[in-house]
Amino acid sequence: MTFDPNVYATRRARIFEELERRGGGVMVLPAAGEKLRNGENEYLFRQDSDHAWAVGLDEPDGCAVFAARGGERRLVLFVRPRDREKEIWTGRRAGVEGAKELYGADEAFTVSEMDDLLPALVEGAPTLWYRLGFDAAWDARLTRVLVALRAAARTGKRAPEAVADSGRILHELRLVKGPDELAKLRRAADLTAEAHMAAMRDGQPGRRESQVQAEIEYAFRRRGGTGPGYSTIVAAGVNSTILHYRAGDTVLRDGDVCLVDAGGEYEWYTADVSRTFPVSGEFTPAQRELYALCLALQKDAILAVRPGTTLDAIHDGVVRRITEGLVGLGLLKGSVDERIADKSYRKYYMHRTSHWLGMDVHDVGDYLVDGKPRPLVPGMVLTIEPGIYVPEDDQDAPAELRGVGIRIEDDVLVTEGGQVNLTEGVPKELADLEAVCVR
Ligand code: GLY
Ligand code: MN
Ligand code: MN
Repeated sequence: MTFDPNVYATRRARIFEELERRGGGVMVLPAAGEKLRNGENEYLFRQDSDHAWAVGLDEPDGCAVFAARGGERRLVLFVRPRDREKEIWTGRRAGVEGAKELYGADEAFTVSEMDDLLPALVEGAPTLWYRLGFDAAWDARLTRVLVALRAAARTGKRAPEAVADSGRILHELRLVKGPDELAKLRRAADLTAEAHMAAMRDGQPGRRESQVQAEIEYAFRRRGGTGPGYSTIVAAGVNSTILHYRAGDTVLRDGDVCLVDAGGEYEWYTADVSRTFPVSGEFTPAQRELYALCLALQKDAILAVRPGTTLDAIHDGVVRRITEGLVGLGLLKGSVDERIADKSYRKYYMHRTSHWLGMDVHDVGDYLVDGKPRPLVPGMVLTIEPGIYVPEDDQDAPAELRGVGIRIEDDVLVTEGGQVNLTEGVPKELADLEAVCVR
């Protein structure tokens, strides 16, 4: 990961400002640990996104402590120590010196010193900012810190009065992206465009979903991406109606649609893109009609993204258009208003249109403010992902549409003047799609 000291200095200053604005306090951000997959073999390490955003160190274990008290600002990092023997086996470490010299900590200590030193760092802070409930071992560690400080009250030590969610501060900061973050999201979008085109080219009759997945993830890494930002979905035929299906070993068949939902990750930022293409290279007339409906309303929903509107307003517009389309195609009966009111459209469209996007695929940040849908502001990034999923056993649908799922998903940046589609490089117009899916 590249570490730009100026970017991190700015982020840290904002964290300290927020802590001071709330009366000062100490924020503890644990780094992610390594997780065993099987035997003596770990999952590929991925840093915790809050820690990554605030610290920028791509190493497991330890934590960052942001202490804002009495006008003093101090960043303390606990890291794995340099260790020649261990580094030969598992790779280089920044160590205590690197934490200070490379990553800008005011002070740094080793992970093994954490339990001894945390009480003194937390002592006297009115509030401990820590995200309870995320990691049981960390919850227990900080509970021990609180208990130790309370027990020492007679000696004049003060335990924090409150424990507050660090996400209240960090997730608001992460919601509106800076220029450096947008540059990374754009790189992720570019990797993702290439990967989806590879999937369209490769997804021919006879291929297995897992083989198409391999093409996608090869494309992510070939251009410097770290891999998929979330589990790749390649869903052929009836699997396209399972929302979070993973790539399996189903064989793609002539006449099937193939729904791919895949996003590459670049330096901790992920894209999130869905496309649905015809395995034979051409949709059947009924599939084409359904696809054209989904595409038209998806494009209009993207154009509806602008400062001041809300995700709810965009979603309501999509629901109306899908319901109109389904009534028009005869899949829903009666009037559009009735079918919206009784929510029967949910048989075909059962998820939301948008979520925030960034370091996490379902990125952080509140969706409601004071109980009301949050108005969009420039710098937010969100998905627009309507879908239509016809159940396999749907007696109301023509036979050739049963078991057909279509989702079209792009990543959209809110700008002063409206929006930019970051993933417009992934083909979705019928002619463009079929031009890539040459068989
Ligand atoms: N890939 C998960 C989603 O689209 O939200
Ligand atoms: Mn997706
Ligand atoms: Mn999504």
